[in-house]
Amino acid sequence: MARQTDTTVTNDGITDQYEEYLMPIWKDLHVPVKRATGCTLEDFEGNEYLDLFSGIAVTNVGHGDDAVVEAAKDQLDEFVHGCTYVHPQGPAAELAERLAEVTPGDLQKTFFCNSGTESVEGAIKLARKYTGSKEVIALEMGFHGRTLGSLALTGNKAYKADMAPTINDVAHTPAPYRYRSPYRDADDETFVERTTADLERVIGTHTADDLAAIVVEPVMGEGGIIVPPTGYLRRLKEIARDHGALLIADEVQSGYGRTGELFASEHYDAVPDILTQAKGIANGLPLGAFTAPAEIADAFDSGDHLSTFGGNPVACAAALATIDRLEDEVTANAREQGAWLSEELAALEAEYDVVGEARGIGLMQGLEFVDPSAGTGPAGIAPEPDAEFAKHVGNYLREQGIVAGVGGYYKNVLRLQPPLSIDREGLERGVAGIRDAIDAELEAGR
Ligand SMILES: Cc1ncc(COP(=O)(O)O)c(C=O)c1O
Repeated sequence: MARQTDTTVTNDGITDQYEEYLMPIWKDLHVPVKRATGCTLEDFEGNEYLDLFSGIAVTNVGHGDDAVVEAAKDQLDEFVHGCTYVHPQGPAAELAERLAEVTPGDLQKTFFCNSGTESVEGAIKLARKYTGSKEVIALEMGFHGRTLGSLALTGNKAYKADMAPTINDVAHTPAPYRYRSPYRDADDETFVERTTADLERVIGTHTADDLAAIVVEPVMGEGGIIVPPTGYLRRLKEIARDHGALLIADEVQSGYGRTGELFASEHYDAVPDILTQAKGIANGLPLGAFTAPAEIADAFDSGDHLSTFGGNPVACAAALATIDRLEDEVTANAREQGAWLSEELAALEAEYDVVGEARGIGLMQGLEFVDPSAGTGPAGIAPEPDAEFAKHVGNYLREQGIVAGVGGYYKNVLRLQPPLSIDREGLERGVAGIRDAIDAELEAGR
């Protein structure tokens, strides 16, 4: 079919409409998108961009993947909505059964919603119902969403300004962020021991013996791509157990092949009590989910929770096709390409003082930019974060036709989270672009 080109729609026209008619929540807009395939975005003026960010880690099997699009179209022809919690229907039933197979350990029963935030909110309700306790602990620098419950767990005041009060009874514990940790030079075992001793201290000082859950991103995304050492998740589960609480793994961002396993928890040999999912689950169709062992899931009674759109059949059909693609080849590709990318980014860290740390797993990688001339940064542990440098690198890349994310708690991390179907050539172009961007910034004296 010939592509339609509406020459009256321009990039500026679209952003003007945004200014005029969308609420101004995101001032720093990225490239406008008219269409997207594989790892390529096209704007309204025919410019193409290499996508290294996947719409914030969502289109894991590539934009417009044939199998996913086909599955969604087939379901559109059948029916679009029946409310999963009123009318039993095939796609939700089949997907829930599939999730019982592909999620770790004894995770078995799923609740479907529409987003990551909702999956976290629902998981907290389930933990409270099952344990009969109320308090929740999350990680400093963690991100779990922006509704008032998930926002309370999000460990970053930048998201909370003017929005308090959120839900009560949430405390935060230091993240396993080795680069700026007082324990940065310890071996993995000692690092885990000390970081989780801090958690015990937080439980002792900030809670009232009424702990329902510890919530953790197995690999932290928005905080700046933070990968905890092996043993960390297992120790969190033991501590949760000791306090009669559940371990909730928020895999909204780290799930669905992103780290080179279907779920990041698999790297850590720890089965969470509840696993939250969204983003990559349906390759861009809105769907969220949380999955728990039957014993925990059955704590919910009829009416305890519901979602009108949750488990939408078109989204569930797309999710089934997405999981097939991830299992066929795409997760393995993430593992292979991620290992290569990791080495390339480590080389940049070795070469440039402004790259404080390269870190990541699979195709969830980050480069933390620092200003080595500005002395030590927070807590006197590593060089001062350099958010401006990271921003300039992101902008330079965009001018070269490459889309990457810039974020992290200090806003100084270049985030590379491309579609997991990306090939070596795409990554080579990305790495070369980053090198050029750093050189250009250094030459400009920034
Ligand atoms: C780990 C994690 N949890 C929850 C969310 C919230 O997801 P959503 O934006 O779909 O509500 C995000 C979004 O970035 C996330 O990274």
